[in-house]
Amino acid sequence: MTNPKPRLLTGDRPTGRLHLGHYVGSLENRVRLQHQYESFFIIADLHTLTTKPEPQYIKEIPTYIKEIVLDYLSVGIDPDISTIFVQSAVPETYQLNLLFEMLVTVPRLERMPTLKDMARDANMDTMPFGLLGYPVLQAVDILLPRAQVVPVGRDNLSHVELAREMARRFNNLYDEVFPEPEAIIGDVPMLVGTDGQSKMSKSIGNAIYLSDDAETVKQKVMNMYTDPKRLRATDPGTVEGNPVFIYHDAFNTSKAEVDDLKERYRAGKVGDVEVKQKLAVAINNFLEPIREKRAYFLAHPMIPNDVLANGIRRMQAEAKTTMELVREKTGLSYSLDLFVDQVDIFGEYDG
Ligand code: TRP
Repeated sequence: MTNPKPRLLTGDRPTGRLHLGHYVGSLENRVRLQHQYESFFIIADLHTLTTKPEPQYIKEIPTYIKEIVLDYLSVGIDPDISTIFVQSAVPETYQLNLLFEMLVTVPRLERMPTLKDMARDANMDTMPFGLLGYPVLQAVDILLPRAQVVPVGRDNLSHVELAREMARRFNNLYDEVFPEPEAIIGDVPMLVGTDGQSKMSKSIGNAIYLSDDAETVKQKVMNMYTDPKRLRATDPGTVEGNPVFIYHDAFNTSKAEVDDLKERYRAGKVGDVEVKQKLAVAINNFLEPIREKRAYFLAHPMIPNDVLANGIRRMQAEAKTTMELVREKTGLSYSLDLFVDQVDIFGEYDG
């Protein structure tokens, strides 16, 4: 018999459509890894509540969930081999989260390098209990399907490390239930935004979305930041660190064209307009098949619908298995007996 493939879990919070930065940083990697691993992709809606619990934000979640499912399918995540699901549709998430909360200390969570930044970005001056628990909930996501590998960005490394600790702590205290998950860190550097200032991000407004149409892409590219010291097309320009060339390297399939543009740019023999026009074409060539798939799924909405429903069912079954094991190993299975008629739970009571 062949060994089953090791399990993988990773995902995204539904706070917006996915963009080229997500593609380069994670989606491309996931599409490849899904053949090596039995893959679970979580749309982590409960995590968004840690900074945005207000009803006006909750109202936006379903739209973003649909966008992300379309993004996943359009880039080539294959629902025949991978599972796409929504976190809040798996009730065991809440259950295991409570148990995990008992297995970690407050100072340990206060040392997480990510949480203070998240609180600050959300304009919170004190830390909500739930936000402190963000990495605990993430450990639940990872361990509920008993995943062994977790591809994440460097910024999430400390969260996977906590998940390893939670698994170890649980297994030591009760019994072997969880594998110690390992992070897979992609070695691609973060994609800069169109403003060249920082990483591509929805909140900064410097993103090109996978779902942008050709005209929008063209406009965004023509407005891109380039070499600020270069005033005329005849000035020699800098290629290194120039976002327009970073994108050419990432998305232009014609290396010869990119090399030629770089050479002429350095020599002051090409205008920004030509470099950008060619970049817009390259990005649109890259995005066109993704757009076509998205349009297909939008025209056949039952397909993404079934993908998500099946993914949720699949994950619910995994979660049920894990929680049964958890209840058994912790001793908490007694609670289920309390609901069963005819069981004489007071028979041995000698109090
Ligand atoms: N924390 C991840 C982010 O930064 C999202 C996420 C939630 C996640 N649960 C996960 C990633 C489990 C990997 C595994 O958006």
